[in-house]
Amino acid sequence: MTALAHETGAINLGQGFPDEDGPPEVVEAAVAALRSGTANQYAPLPGVPALIDAVRAHQRRNYGLEPEDVQVTFGATEALAAAMLGLLRPGDEVVALDPVYDSYAAIAEMAGATLRRVPLHPPRWRLDPAELRAAVWERTRVLLLNSPHNPTGRVLDREELEAVAAVCREHDVVAVTDEVYEHLVFEGEHIPLATLEGMAERTLTISSVGKTYSFTGWKIGWCSGPARLVAAVRGAKQFLTFSGGTPLQHAAAAALNLGESVPARLRAELRAKRDHLAAGLREAGFGVLPCEGTYFVTADAAPLGHPDAEELCLRLPHDAGVVAIPIAVFAGDPTHEMRSLVRFAFCKREAVLTEAVERLVAWAR
Ligand SMILES: Cc1ncc(COP(=O)(O)O)c(C=O)c1O
Repeated sequence: MTALAHETGAINLGQGFPDEDGPPEVVEAAVAALRSGTANQYAPLPGVPALIDAVRAHQRRNYGLEPEDVQVTFGATEALAAAMLGLLRPGDEVVALDPVYDSYAAIAEMAGATLRRVPLHPPRWRLDPAELRAAVWERTRVLLLNSPHNPTGRVLDREELEAVAAVCREHDVVAVTDEVYEHLVFEGEHIPLATLEGMAERTLTISSVGKTYSFTGWKIGWCSGPARLVAAVRGAKQFLTFSGGTPLQHAAAAALNLGESVPARLRAELRAKRDHLAAGLREAGFGVLPCEGTYFVTADAAPLGHPDAEELCLRLPHDAGVVAIPIAVFAGDPTHEMRSLVRFAFCKREAVLTEAVERLVAWAR
């Protein structure tokens, strides 16, 4: 879809990346590290100590968590892949909430495992504990949980998380949590699964610098949790990339050490952008689903007479000059109710959102 945006000159509300840099002091920290003469060689395999300390401090400050170990990775993406490679054996199953972030099925398959999807149902995208329970059996080794959830913008509440935790405890399943949008929550609160009873010892928590600080291209991520789970990631990562991005690891430490006021400011800006785009989509005639977090709002094209969002999203760049992504591409077996849903990214400058809304409103007329 990003290629289609380049080809047609359409505004790209498809892929989730901001069109502005994150905090300048974090950029300065990267420049200082690059110029220091001491941060341009291989980092230690676990990551630079300053970033490991900053991740520990972040987990303690925000959630009261004291992870046994931390591993720095090339973005959350590498942490997720290394976790699957390190934890799974051929024939194992991984349970995830459907629709899923697009790397999950691929990384499960790379590890010789199978992804089993538990549906979230629009428009509220709530998790049905009975459906989760039905998906877990003796072959289930990992429950891969993403909240705040891409693509739906859903933030799981405590009741749903308790249901997830209960299933993990009962079936002795390892939880791997993808929390890259942990600071981009507009309604409700982000509750790490590891904070629930009996979960710290069985949860590998993953996050990264990209979304929280608007540096998606840096690809500095980390995982934390029990030593045995972090060791599984480290064992795989050692032979994927070993280490990398040393100066950016120092800058990521500086970002985390800025404290919570910086993510809070970025969150407030993003909330305003969410509201801006949601109002514009409504004006154009889309139905707009609730969005509690992330970079994405889901719109229903059915009220505009477009029941097939895949077909619509192929036409939109040409007809409206806007790129968006059909929710169905994230789903294993999209239900009828998902077919008309479109994911729009709102992590763009206000002027870009204004222009996108004007184009969509004109197109809809
Ligand atoms: C749910 C989810 N997990 C992981 C990632 C990737 O994170 P990173 O850029 O840190 O590799 C993304 C990026 O879009 C995402 O939406």
